[in-house]
Amino acid sequence: MTVHFIGAGPGAADLLTLRGRDLIAACPVCLYAGSLVPEAVLGHCPPEAKIVNTAPMDLDAIVAEIAAAHAEGKHVARLHSGDLSVWSAMGEQLRRLDALGIPYDVTPGVPSFSAAAAALAVELTVPELAQSVVLTRTQGRASPMPEGESLANFARTGATLALHLSVGQLEKVQADLLPGYGADCPVAVVYRASWPDQRVIRCTLGTLTEAVDDGISRTALILVGAALGEGPRAESRLYAADYDRRYRPQSADSPWAEWQHGDD
Ligand SMILES: C[S@@+](CC[C@H](N)C(=O)[O-])C[C@H]1O[C@@H](n2cnc3c(N)ncnc32)[C@H](O)[C@@H]1O
Repeated sequence: MTVHFIGAGPGAADLLTLRGRDLIAACPVCLYAGSLVPEAVLGHCPPEAKIVNTAPMDLDAIVAEIAAAHAEGKHVARLHSGDLSVWSAMGEQLRRLDALGIPYDVTPGVPSFSAAAAALAVELTVPELAQSVVLTRTQGRASPMPEGESLANFARTGATLALHLSVGQLEKVQADLLPGYGADCPVAVVYRASWPDQRVIRCTLGTLTEAVDDGISRTALILVGAALGEGPRAESRLYAADYDRRYRPQSADSPWAEWQHGDD
């Protein structure tokens, strides 16, 4: 018996890994974080599966449900939204399972920031403009931010920011980021990326608070940074015709020419 922690992706039932889908289909018990994992994803469960929404449960109750499945020798699919490496609350579950000697594995998922970038059809890194993406959030009721991870600090880097769990604090986001990015900095808000009711709002940091309406109160990402803008920009050297590289040596003298011949 194994507990399979599976990144359930941003929402669309076909934005799972094949491994994740197949594991869900093979598990007689499925626990899912119902606040963010949509029911469409549960369509991958076998018809007779026991399906439990863990949104109203506490950690002890969730672990008890898993332990009961373990006692019956039943595999469990444990679904969290997006990818499990960020804001999934997987860590404390794994520590409890370690203590109980219950085996588990982890299957990654499509994170919501990737789905939001796909909805916008943008690269979040642009040569000479932004070469880092910061996945962060504003402070929540239950989650104080560690010292040093303030938005104002991140704003000094000029990196592309992907702000999670923050659409309810637009005034604070705007005030903290304005000194670093300026009012004209491009911003995109993506609500429920990949869901049927996905919405995309493009604005600037200066217009952020008026651009987002009350219909968007949660499950949205705020992407901030010059990479979100339009207009001329540097191209990556990767496919430049004159760029000497391992897979496309430009001359017999290229350091890559020998490697390529040797590899033939
Ligand atoms: C608890 S975190 C989970 C993050 C998730 N583990 C991931 O990999 O994206 C929830 C936050 O992720 C963002 N989020 C999750 N799904 C989203 C989606 N489909 N569209 C936009 N934002 C989403 C929102 O900012 C939401 O408040």
